[in-house]
Amino acid sequence: MNTLFNTLFIGKVLLSFDKLDSTNSEAERLLAQKKWAEGTVVVAKEQFAGRGQMGNSWHSQANKNITMSIILYPKIDFPQQQFLLHQIISLGVKDCLENLGLKNINIKWPNDILIHEKKIGGILIQNAISSKGISHSIIGIGLNVNQIEFPQELKNVTSIFKEQKKQYELNSIIEKLCFFIEKRYLELRAKKYKQLNDEYHQYLFLKNIKVLFTTKNNVPFLGKIEGVNQQGQIIIETSEGLKYFNFKEIQFPNEF
Ligand code: BTN
Repeated sequence: MNTLFNTLFIGKVLLSFDKLDSTNSEAERLLAQKKWAEGTVVVAKEQFAGRGQMGNSWHSQANKNITMSIILYPKIDFPQQQFLLHQIISLGVKDCLENLGLKNINIKWPNDILIHEKKIGGILIQNAISSKGISHSIIGIGLNVNQIEFPQELKNVTSIFKEQKKQYELNSIIEKLCFFIEKRYLELRAKKYKQLNDEYHQYLFLKNIKVLFTTKNNVPFLGKIEGVNQQGQIIIETSEGLKYFNFKEIQFPNEF
């Protein structure tokens, strides 16, 4: 379906499904058939096998939230500039929430979106790599919008409704997400790397705050996040000097 979204290309083609296993998986299947226009969006009202980072599942109540994937063909060096993609997508989601009037937004490394320290959105980026670099990226976004109750095991989660006591029409938020992500994607195309990196760090959760982290071998240590490097590793200042961690190599306090 062609939409009248106020964008140049993201969401102009929108494929909407009542029920899918996962919009990322559907985007993969679609890309195996043909090359879709850049910015094609796949949306599902319900996912029955929603995927999160590191093989986790993604919970989202049917018809309440946004579960969507965007097909992009970013011209960036892989793997050197890979993290830029995580930065622009999380900034785009952050911009959208800010535009809706939400406050206290943070980006938890690498790209969880938090409001008042609770997770409101998650991002799952899958890159297909060829000898020439990234041949396509599937940008999966889950954003909790109108959901009121969450399963007990999901600690520290929230939704726009829970924050604002206001229901939103999902299509209007999908359009806004497309608009704000496109704006950031255009900044990436314009090579505004420093500005993007600075803004990402401005919103980085727990930056410069001394807290107790835990290594993957369950060893606790006190440290302060200094930032994230170009490779996407988090840099933590500890009593033994700077330490660099890849995703899932450390646990944050009250990790959810
Ligand atoms: C995470 O925080 O673990 C990432 C969650 C990403 C969820 C979205 S929902 C739309 C897209 N389809 C999926 O199966 N996952 C992503």
